[in-house]
Amino acid sequence: MMLEADYKHRVLSLKKEKNAVILAHNYQLPEVQDVADVIGDSLALSRTAAQSDADTIVFCGVHFMAETAAIICPDKQVLIPDPDAGCSLAASINARELKSWIAEHHDAVVVSYVNTTAEVKALSDYCCTSSNAVNVVNSIPSNREILFLPDMFLGSYVAKMTKRKNMYIWPGECHVHADIKAQDINEMFKNFNNADFLVHPECGCTSTTLYHIATGELEKSAHILSTEGMMKHASASPAKQFVVATETGILYRMKKENPHKQFIPIKKDAICKYMKLINLEKIQNSLLNNVYQVKVPPKTAVKARAAIERMLAIS
Ligand code: 13P
Ligand code: SF4
Repeated sequence: MMLEADYKHRVLSLKKEKNAVILAHNYQLPEVQDVADVIGDSLALSRTAAQSDADTIVFCGVHFMAETAAIICPDKQVLIPDPDAGCSLAASINARELKSWIAEHHDAVVVSYVNTTAEVKALSDYCCTSSNAVNVVNSIPSNREILFLPDMFLGSYVAKMTKRKNMYIWPGECHVHADIKAQDINEMFKNFNNADFLVHPECGCTSTTLYHIATGELEKSAHILSTEGMMKHASASPAKQFVVATETGILYRMKKENPHKQFIPIKKDAICKYMKLINLEKIQNSLLNNVYQVKVPPKTAVKARAAIERMLAIS
């Protein structure tokens, strides 16, 4: 039986041999983060994929993220170590559903969160991620209707921040984040009143957090951020304690990069089973056998790329 250290060694030498780059999302398992060239949020990983000169990208994340890399880099081989690494949020709207929604709002501008399939992106005017959704919506003339999809918590956060009244929001959610509720943040707020609160905008507690910020109770200590925004805040803040409202995989990197600070998950069982499908053995298999290739049909890719590039130009 191979040990973790053997897998790491093997993965690192195969990566060199194949001129591959390993990109890992902040929610990946610790051992996967340890072999990655870049760890980040959806936006950072999209940018890295776009700039990389590697021949192969091994995407350690979920399928829509690898698909985004394949759309941006049509000349590179993009591999995902487990093709079953899906996303409940991306699965909450398909192209057929989006087409009929667009038919009800002909003149609306379609803004799709990056957690969507390539077909849905291809029907969209703009993509956005959690770190740039507010900027993307602000860049759209205020008289234009917007269809925002698929996350309803992120959508209502963006509508509040931009004060848009003409924004329609798809009722999709991520099962992991939707389960982080108002009572969870209220409870933690009572118990950790000197901590900074880092909240992902997909969380079910986002509106309650905004309410506490507006009333002044969490005015300085609560921050609604993408996973990379959380990482930056954790290192820049003078606070010593942080309550983290997102998938727990990010705590490994937070602790590693800030060993003298304390990070407390708002919910210990906020775990994305799809993210955890990737492991070192599967990465090794991916590099050895060039599996599993993520390909997007050229016609779909051209349209989806336009939506992604509009996003990258704004943020
Ligand atoms: P980030 O872009 O903030 O990393 O979020 C992606 C995601 O899937 C959150 O669950
Ligand atoms: Fe999708 Fe939720 Fe997993 Fe993120 S945490 S990849 S949104 S299922």
